[in-house]
Amino acid sequence: MAKQRVLSGIQPTGRAHIGNYLGAFVNWVRDQSANDSIFLVVDLHGLTVENDRDSMGAATLDMAATLFAVGIDPGQATVVIQSHVPGHVQLGWVMECTATYGELSRMTQFKDKSKGLSKVRVGLFTYPALMAADILLYHADLVPVGDDQTQHLELARDLAIRFNNAYGETFTVPKAQRVAHGSRVMDLANPLQKMSKSSSSPQGIIFLSDSDDEIARKIARAKTDTFNELAYLPEDPERAGVTNLLEMLGALTGKAPEECAGEFSGYGQLKKALTEALVELLTPIKIRFELFQTDPAELARLLAQGADRANEIASDTVRVVYDRLGLVRSGG
Ligand code: TYM
Repeated sequence: MAKQRVLSGIQPTGRAHIGNYLGAFVNWVRDQSANDSIFLVVDLHGLTVENDRDSMGAATLDMAATLFAVGIDPGQATVVIQSHVPGHVQLGWVMECTATYGELSRMTQFKDKSKGLSKVRVGLFTYPALMAADILLYHADLVPVGDDQTQHLELARDLAIRFNNAYGETFTVPKAQRVAHGSRVMDLANPLQKMSKSSSSPQGIIFLSDSDDEIARKIARAKTDTFNELAYLPEDPERAGVTNLLEMLGALTGKAPEECAGEFSGYGQLKKALTEALVELLTPIKIRFELFQTDPAELARLLAQGADRANEIASDTVRVVYDRLGLVRSGG
């Protein structure tokens, strides 16, 4: 049976956190040998909001090194910096001309991210069209993402179907792939909000690069509740903090959150077990990340290899799409 093409991506705006790991990376790593995977560091998406040009390059390379550090094997999967492949922008424009204003206006992430900004970049609005292009460019079958990307993925599916209906079978219609627990890791300090790289305070976020002490401190301070018995009641917003801790521990240990709840008599014990599980997970990741810091040439080599492979696929797709649209070829 032919391998399934898996595609996913992460923005390099800020450091990767445990939400990225449990919601997305876990699936990326687990299935990489069974599938033909492409993982993108989407630096062009990073331009949709205020960003610092002096740190952009380093943040992009650090995110790529993080992907290898969490276990992406360059022998099995392809890691690509989005801006190294012009096809993203080329197909992105075609997707902007396939999507409608109404569709993009309904994107909840746009509403959240634009709230409170005095100047909203047009790219923030059209971002989901570029994300659709990221996926359709490689004919991805599966897209492993956290819950927050569901609406964007639905749009990518709709745009693929619309284009295929108008111009003939061109794109694979992609499917979302989700983890059982961990597809929405919440902020530790404010468990009604998802954990996010762009959150204003780092206190609620476990970064993959956090030291053991930082992990212990953040988990110790994580919001719980005033109920005395430990229970997994995910529907109750008053228990959102404990629900989040139990789901994280469940995702890290492979157990159901209910089972984790039954193992401890109090929040202190739960927090201790979660801290230990996080330290155990993150220690080897930090060591592998540091190895890349000492060998930037190796990272550059792997990324050049990724870009070559991605460009081959992407340039074929763009040529077919331009032909379907009736655009005239250069040189006749
Ligand atoms: P980004 O950079 O915000 O997040 C990368 C991945 O991590 C998941 N994630 C979470 N999962 C669980 N709990 C959380 N708190 C949490 N926060 C983030 C995200 O769902 C995502 O899977 N638009 C995308 C990047 C992108 C992309 C793509 C993804 C661009 N092109 C093509 C897939 C395919 C984004 O901003 O992810």
